[in-house]
Amino acid sequence: MSDGTIVSTIVDRVVRDRAARWLGRAGARLPTFAELAAPSRIPEAFRNALRSLDPDRPEPANLFRVHWYNDRLRTGLAATPCHLVLPPSLTGVRSPIVMQLGCFFPMIGAHKVLAAYGCLVPRLVTGRFDPSLHKAVWPSTGNYCRGGIAISRILDCRGVAVLPEGMSEERFEWLRTWAVQPDDIVRTPGSESNVKEIFDKCAELARDPANIVLNQFAEFGNYVAHYACTGPALAHVFETLRADRPGLKLASFVAASGSAGTLAAGDYLKDKFGARIVAAEASECPTLLRNGFGEHNIQGIGDKHVPFIHNVMNTDVVVGVSDRCTDALDLLFNSETGLSYLAGRRHIDPELLAGLTLIGLSGIANLVAAIKTAKHLELGDHDMILTVATDSAALYGSERRKFLAANYPDGFDGVSAAEIFGQHLLGAADNDVLELTHNERSRIFNLGYYTWVEQQGVALEAFEQRRAQGFWAELREAAPAWDMLIAEFNAVAGWEKGC
Ligand SMILES: Cc1ncc(COP(=O)(O)O)c(C=O)c1O
Repeated sequence: MSDGTIVSTIVDRVVRDRAARWLGRAGARLPTFAELAAPSRIPEAFRNALRSLDPDRPEPANLFRVHWYNDRLRTGLAATPCHLVLPPSLTGVRSPIVMQLGCFFPMIGAHKVLAAYGCLVPRLVTGRFDPSLHKAVWPSTGNYCRGGIAISRILDCRGVAVLPEGMSEERFEWLRTWAVQPDDIVRTPGSESNVKEIFDKCAELARDPANIVLNQFAEFGNYVAHYACTGPALAHVFETLRADRPGLKLASFVAASGSAGTLAAGDYLKDKFGARIVAAEASECPTLLRNGFGEHNIQGIGDKHVPFIHNVMNTDVVVGVSDRCTDALDLLFNSETGLSYLAGRRHIDPELLAGLTLIGLSGIANLVAAIKTAKHLELGDHDMILTVATDSAALYGSERRKFLAANYPDGFDGVSAAEIFGQHLLGAADNDVLELTHNERSRIFNLGYYTWVEQQGVALEAFEQRRAQGFWAELREAAPAWDMLIAEFNAVAGWEKGC
């Protein structure tokens, strides 16, 4: 478990050298965070080699695609990260809502592969992970462990996915193809919000010193990777749109909290543009809103605890979104009936309609949270809201079929589509929206005590230090320090400087 320190110097040079040579033999050259933040910095030879490489093949060169700039074909680079601009005709609010798309990330079709890279690489380059001895254990509710398995596999490291048995069948199908051995997939009891069960399994696995648990909820590499890479990518999208619309302001950044890694991009956007940071969660599991708990189906978020890497004292608003709403909108966006309603009655642009399928369940939650935020804060047409879709609807076909069968046994028609649009988009109310005062922030921060100090054994001082913004400012310095270690690591692995 994290002791709250950020390791950015080499702890064991022998292990570091062994790991570097191991990766060198696997043909892996590690990209720096600076390269992943701005992929034009990736050496040309590596960029060119990608043109003929399938983004979903387990090849080390695909590490150079672990960024937001993959184009829609996922073979080349886009000038700005792929995004959708969601207009008032769809959202019912005047503020432009812009959604950056995570589905073009390689191997897993979700940006969580960046979080996995961010958690493993600092260990490798500081000599705290030896691929010849260690297994990387990736606890998650689905996408992070897939990212971890993908990263482990292309670096020729052993990886173990730990996830609840109730997650979508598509996630398990993917894992069966990518895991080196069937027992590298560990199923824990429950579904989305059963993270304690995952932690218990990890504690059991950690008794074997060969297992290194990379807990995304507590590894600061997750925070740093998103601050260093996701933040600038979102800023680039905003600046590109503002160039065409002077006067546009970045009012808010909205992200649902799973590990809270993505929310780190909010810290970047607040530093640069003063954007408010909005954390979304499932109304059925209102942990941040009301210290609450409960089951829900917004897969990937809302795990009944406050992640250790969540900079709670810098968060401005919490918004709850019901999974009834995300399941229904998922059906609207991914059915012929729904799309023809949106085209025929709502005159939504066909290109945007085609893009709606690129938004997974938690992305829909972000969209609705953005609408609720715009209503609550009475934002206008110059107040842009940025958000992300971590993955696409492709991962939820089985969930959609279940929802359809349970709710529309006699068929889903145009009237049902109109009801969904009216109720969940146009009619989204600003219930479950909480603007955080100092007291509210403190309440949420303090709630984390029970998970991290009492349950997981984190030292009180390590827990408390995260109240101060100075702690997070210092943490952000880790990215350039790790980049220097990555360059050194690549040199030991046998890569020439500049390659
Ligand atoms: C589909 C999906 N959405 C959202 C999230 C939440 O992102 P984060 O963990 O960065 O808070 C996750 C995390 O695994 C996810 O898988």
